[in-house]
Amino acid sequence: MALVVLVGAQWGDEGKGKITDFLAEQARIVVRFQGGNNAGHTVVVGQEEFRLHLLPSGILHPDKECLIGNGVVIDPAVLREEIEALAARNVTIGRLYISERAHLIMPYHRYLDKLQEERKGEAKIGTTCRGIGPCYADKISREGIRVVDLLDREHFAEKLRRNVDLKNEYIEKIFGAPGLDYESILAEFKSHAEFLRPYTADASMILSQAVYQGKNVLFEGAQGTLLDIDHGTYPFVTSSNPTASEAAAGSGIGPTALDLVLGVSKAYTTRVGEGPFPTELDGPAGEEIRSKGREFGTTTGRPRRCGWFDAVIGRYAARVNGLDYLAVTKLDVLSGLDTLKICNAYRWRGELLTEFPANVEVLAECEPVYEELPGWSEDITGARRLKDLPKAARRYLERITELVEVPVAMVGVGVRRSQTIVIQDVFADVFEE
Ligand code: IMP
Repeated sequence: MALVVLVGAQWGDEGKGKITDFLAEQARIVVRFQGGNNAGHTVVVGQEEFRLHLLPSGILHPDKECLIGNGVVIDPAVLREEIEALAARNVTIGRLYISERAHLIMPYHRYLDKLQEERKGEAKIGTTCRGIGPCYADKISREGIRVVDLLDREHFAEKLRRNVDLKNEYIEKIFGAPGLDYESILAEFKSHAEFLRPYTADASMILSQAVYQGKNVLFEGAQGTLLDIDHGTYPFVTSSNPTASEAAAGSGIGPTALDLVLGVSKAYTTRVGEGPFPTELDGPAGEEIRSKGREFGTTTGRPRRCGWFDAVIGRYAARVNGLDYLAVTKLDVLSGLDTLKICNAYRWRGELLTEFPANVEVLAECEPVYEELPGWSEDITGARRLKDLPKAARRYLERITELVEVPVAMVGVGVRRSQTIVIQDVFADVFEE
């Protein structure tokens, strides 16, 4: 039995969906523990492409159990749409459990996300406008509505009334925008309640029983380390903790139960939304990576900003997540580039920084210090073992391992699940110790 946590080691979009889906084959349970439908995972199975935002990637395996933990924020309309869309494509989905302690994204959260972004103007975060930040803000200020509240027929209407009145006052007075209609939200959510009821469970209890029974569990992180509300490039972050320790708090299991942490990193770097990005490439090289890597947001369709691999970020992610292994994805996208660059430190006002700074104003002024490595021209999408890779590609991976100080367990060389080189079976690793 092993409990493996998978997290993004950059700014999200590291290709976690494919790695999760790959590892889900060995797990009995796949758990989402933070974030919401701001995430977007594209998974290719056979000839079909699936886009998931809220459902754990393991849902495409009919024999799996999937769990949405208390740390996730749930937009019930989106959850319904995703489940119904899979049913319409005749996909038999796994068993789904939703934590009764998870908070709900309400229509006023989505509305406020948009209003707040507009009001920030130049200083906007570039959120996905899915209501994530306002929902977590209500959770922390103890004004949120949880799944368990929605199912409570006696008290839900009253809680909703209180919240809609308060939010409408804020929306009307602060933003000068029209308020929302309580009755229509109530009717919509009554229908969501009946849809959600059969999936709702004490997720922490189910998980601890699974652990007791010796089942393999995969914790599927969304977003990435640098979008973490505590450890990321604040304020250009999401409102949850996409780092590994949240796997415990966001699912209701103790941290001592977790066995191994796998960080997923692209062979280069991307980010969507605003905020500093030291290795960003503005010119044709960035354009080439964007088009070859199909670097457009799964959730918003926005073009992703692209740049070289940043080992300062890699080392930082290794530290704050306690990474045991790295999965390096999309190595194939770099084929055909004559020279590759890896950033190993920053230069800031004449000073050499080898650790990731806390202050985004400092980060914005950081110049990357690069080392150059030779590229390769071969198509590597058919490689299934390390030795199938050209020497320069192997050297590139070795250099990442040396600089980040974490061994590489898996390498992605294409979009398909089968296009993965497995160097170390992470579930088996736990047994070997
Ligand atoms: P929010 O999570 O919608 O509040 O957005 C906050 C920041 O996180 C923005 O920069 C978003 O672009 C970014 N973000 C949120 N989810 C993802 C993701 O799944 N991948 C990459 N960036 C994300």
